[in-house]
Amino acid sequence: MSASVTTRHFLKDTDLSPAEQAEVLDLAVRMKAAPYSVQPFAADAGGRKTVAVIFDKTSTRTRVSFATGVADMGGNALVINPGEAQIGHKESVEDTAKVLERMVSTIVWRTGAHAGLVAMAANSRVPVINALCDDYHPCQLLADLLTIKEHKGELKGLTMAYLGDSANNMANSYLLAGVTAGMNVRIAGPEGYLPDAEIVAAAEARAAETGGSVLVTTAAAEALRGADVVATDTWVSMGQEAEKEARMKLFRDYSVDAAAMKLAATDAVVLHCLPAYRGYEIAADVIDGPQSVVWDEAENRLHAQKALMAWLMHRSGLAVVESLGPVDGPAPVNGPA
Ligand code: CP
Ligand code: NVA
Repeated sequence: MSASVTTRHFLKDTDLSPAEQAEVLDLAVRMKAAPYSVQPFAADAGGRKTVAVIFDKTSTRTRVSFATGVADMGGNALVINPGEAQIGHKESVEDTAKVLERMVSTIVWRTGAHAGLVAMAANSRVPVINALCDDYHPCQLLADLLTIKEHKGELKGLTMAYLGDSANNMANSYLLAGVTAGMNVRIAGPEGYLPDAEIVAAAEARAAETGGSVLVTTAAAEALRGADVVATDTWVSMGQEAEKEARMKLFRDYSVDAAAMKLAATDAVVLHCLPAYRGYEIAADVIDGPQSVVWDEAENRLHAQKALMAWLMHRSGLAVVESLGPVDGPAPVNGPA
């Protein structure tokens, strides 16, 4: 690895600067239109072929979109399902990273603690991508922003309201990725289930750079009024199943239903990362209605993550994506193992 090129990771939404986030989204738009135009994992691009895609929690979209995206770009996704690897029980994250970085081009990991991803990245000279952890789901937000861009044009200046469990990974990522794009992000949930002060402070700092803004409230109506985008997520995230009954009561005033949608802009679009629980966080007539863009959002996981992988490989000096322009220092430096 050249001393002048730093390996880039994507562990949380703010790991991309506002300009970098825009660059990844623009690349995603181009790659959606021309799905095989960027081939960082093909032998002649200099990148290694295999991407390790590790799951400590279950998945449909993330698994399929990464596997499909890597194949589209000339690579091979090695999907490791929950319980299949030694990581975390027989072998430390640090040792796992030191083994994987000798063989693969990128490490994609869905896990619990964000600290694990930080440890993986600290020990890896190939990019590490957060495929969801307890605190963030940044790949989902790239797909969400791509979807909003497609339906609304410019992201900057739009108002996005998120309702429901506002202490979960999706709420944090809506806040951080939304303000990075220059959006006005409003988060509404009950007392005790709002984003941590540290996340709000990070979002406010980013909003000060981009002209976006942050509103955290317990009043769903305050968040919804005139919003251009309305988003929600399950009230029971993976690992919280024992709290299901209590959570169903806690969040019931934050459901995205027809009454909620009356408060938003008449042309508002509705997002949900899925899986969705109709009749709880979102009404069936909303998710299956004309304002819902959730199927575009699901498809855009593929396009956004392809762009992200290509961008990280390029910016880390591990493969060349010609349309992205030069990277400081020599590239590529990390050929097939
Ligand atoms: N939205 C999302 O991450 O879906 P999966 O859990 O199915 O990957
Ligand atoms: N908040 C949800 C998102 C699922 C994609 C969870 O963590 O289970």
